[in-house]
Amino acid sequence: MALDLLVRYPGRSVRSRIQVRRGALDRLGACARAIKARRVAVVSDATVAALYGGLSVRSLERAGLTASLVTVPPGERAKNPRQLVRLWGWLGALGLTRGDAVVALGGGVVGDLAGFAAATWLRGVAWIGVPTSLVAQIDSCVGGKTAVDLEVGKNLVGAFHQPVAVLVDPDALATLPERHHRAGLAELVKLGMAVDGGLFAWTERHARRLRGRDGAVLEQAVARAIRVKARVVRGDERERWGGARTALNYGHTLGHALESACGYRGPLHGEAVAIGMRAAAAISTRVAGLSAAARARQDALLDAFGLPRRVPPVALEDLLRAMRQDKKRGAAEVRWVLTPRVGHASVPRPVDRRLVRSALIEIGARV
Ligand code: GLY
Repeated sequence: MALDLLVRYPGRSVRSRIQVRRGALDRLGACARAIKARRVAVVSDATVAALYGGLSVRSLERAGLTASLVTVPPGERAKNPRQLVRLWGWLGALGLTRGDAVVALGGGVVGDLAGFAAATWLRGVAWIGVPTSLVAQIDSCVGGKTAVDLEVGKNLVGAFHQPVAVLVDPDALATLPERHHRAGLAELVKLGMAVDGGLFAWTERHARRLRGRDGAVLEQAVARAIRVKARVVRGDERERWGGARTALNYGHTLGHALESACGYRGPLHGEAVAIGMRAAAAISTRVAGLSAAARARQDALLDAFGLPRRVPPVALEDLLRAMRQDKKRGAAEVRWVLTPRVGHASVPRPVDRRLVRSALIEIGARV
């Protein structure tokens, strides 16, 4: 299921062309030439660069562009201000100008970090996303969120900076480690639970083939997810207070807190979101009218994808503190995205502290 989608943002001249097609990596050069870049700075992580760095640089050079590749260490811990400063230094040494472009070749971490370097270099240069992980292809490649993490919280420093183009190559998923594959499936469950009951039902029907990494079904999943996410973010690019995009943070109140409380060495982002969705559904059954049957559907799908059921050994107080640091909190209280039905998450709302504590203890937080 190839896809060629132009995402426009009302009232703004920016637009992102998102293409999903097998073998898309080889078209990076043509894509960069189409946006009239001359010099291209490719940012990747060491693992992805070893697999696809050469192919990407060759494609750019074949198109007559000057390409340079730099790597950051793999994993969420590289998404920090120190690596960002390193990238700025490298862009400076290359002499990257406003007529040039940055390419983010990798998963969500590389997209966030390289995208933020592009957002800030010379007050903003063009960038192309080339997502290679399932989390990035299903979710983070759409919508222009870029950021780095701080010790005190995830994504606390960042910018909305839309990529001019996103090239999604489902073939790149073949080399993804199994754990990262499962973590990516969590984002598919999230999109379904939060904003699209049809996508959720489709995911249920194809769960076995998705878990089994069937290439054709994965390609369909990526294209469907991108359409759904694009529909949401084009109406609320900047995630207004109470806007439609906030629903996409279903599972994130606890998910981000878990990642940060574990020093970004614990669960992968998708795993943390899976645990966060289990807690959000438990709370939703108590205060948002989610039926026990709908909660069971969600949890069964997460189980089918082999996603974690319980929080890793983290103290309850550390989790509560990390939640208070999250940028999505209200002025005075931690807010949760809850859902009354599959596909209809609401805007974030405060939840009684005792209820949060009991939901967290229920899924393994240590008192
Ligand atoms: N990952 C949620 C969003 O992009 O809004």
